[in-house]
Amino acid sequence: MILVTGGAGYIGSHTVKELLAHGYEVVVLDDLSSGHRELVLTEHFVQGDICDPAAVARVFRTYPITAVLHFAALTSVPESVADPARYYAVNLVGTWNVLEAMRAHGVKLFVFSSSAAVYGDPQRLPIPEDHPTQPKSPYGRTKRMVEEMLADYARAYGFRYVSLRYFNAAGSDPEGAIGEWHEPERHLIPLVLEVALGRRPYLEIFGTDYATPDGTGVRDYVHVTDLARAHVRALQHLEAGGESRVYNLGIGRGYSVREVVEVCRRVTGRAIPVREGPRRPGDPAVLVADPSRAMRELRWQPQFTDLTPMVETAWRWMQRRFGGKPAG
Ligand code: UFG
Repeated sequence: MILVTGGAGYIGSHTVKELLAHGYEVVVLDDLSSGHRELVLTEHFVQGDICDPAAVARVFRTYPITAVLHFAALTSVPESVADPARYYAVNLVGTWNVLEAMRAHGVKLFVFSSSAAVYGDPQRLPIPEDHPTQPKSPYGRTKRMVEEMLADYARAYGFRYVSLRYFNAAGSDPEGAIGEWHEPERHLIPLVLEVALGRRPYLEIFGTDYATPDGTGVRDYVHVTDLARAHVRALQHLEAGGESRVYNLGIGRGYSVREVVEVCRRVTGRAIPVREGPRRPGDPAVLVADPSRAMRELRWQPQFTDLTPMVETAWRWMQRRFGGKPAG
């Protein structure tokens, strides 16, 4: 049985769906602080906090766990700057609790949700995995520190792990069973689509004076189902005896904020007013992955290589979720 921490969250829930489709038995541990019970597609669900060692130990005692996919974490860059203590508690100490429970129960395979935030401002593009890591936020630092912890655990205790550095997760399950659901919403594509739905008056563009072709920030958007498939590949790699590895997950192509808005206008056929605002502190101008290592070694091939179908899946989910009703 595979333990998925944070399996009620955005990327975790999509990965649970993919694991089930591949015939895995899955148990989810999630405290529902930001996840949603409705997104959990496995019948085995435990509500609990990774910061509570007794709750984590109970899961390992109850289920015959053979590997852990660890999504449970706090994920907001600006929040991590304002309140780093919580980020170190959940992302570092919480992860340490999970690793210690694994050690106590002889479980040695671990797939970790890392982030492009470990890199900081890129010195070259696209970004390969051996690019220097100089995270600009406590969030990014917690991800880098866990990667260091994993390398030490691997050396000392015979753990094997895959650390997946996601670029910008986007879209929702193409079959519409689950989707992106954050409260509050902070990510670009769902915010733009909420404007299209009339739930927000306009999108604020954070910075129009970057050294990019149209002055706005450029990101590598990768479909959440492709991310989910990469987790299954990573797990299979470890189960087959593969060594510990770090992989970028992106499509290797960047879209600016203005391009994202334009694609959303085309997909929705609705007006999407924007306002130009100042830069958001801590935002790099451009983040684009070199995903060739994952493609080569995990034989991972993203199915979504264009933003339009990604936005289409997000739009379908959002229309269902809100039923086309404006806010209030
Ligand atoms: N943006 C806007 N207006 C908004 C929201 C976002 O212009 O209202 C811009 C951002 O400035 C950025 C782009 O849209 O240029 C994407 O922003 P998101 O907030 O959607 O995503 P980020 O790139 O900031 O963050 C993502 C993940 C983080 C991860 C980070 C790596 O959500 O978890 O990439 O840098 F840490």
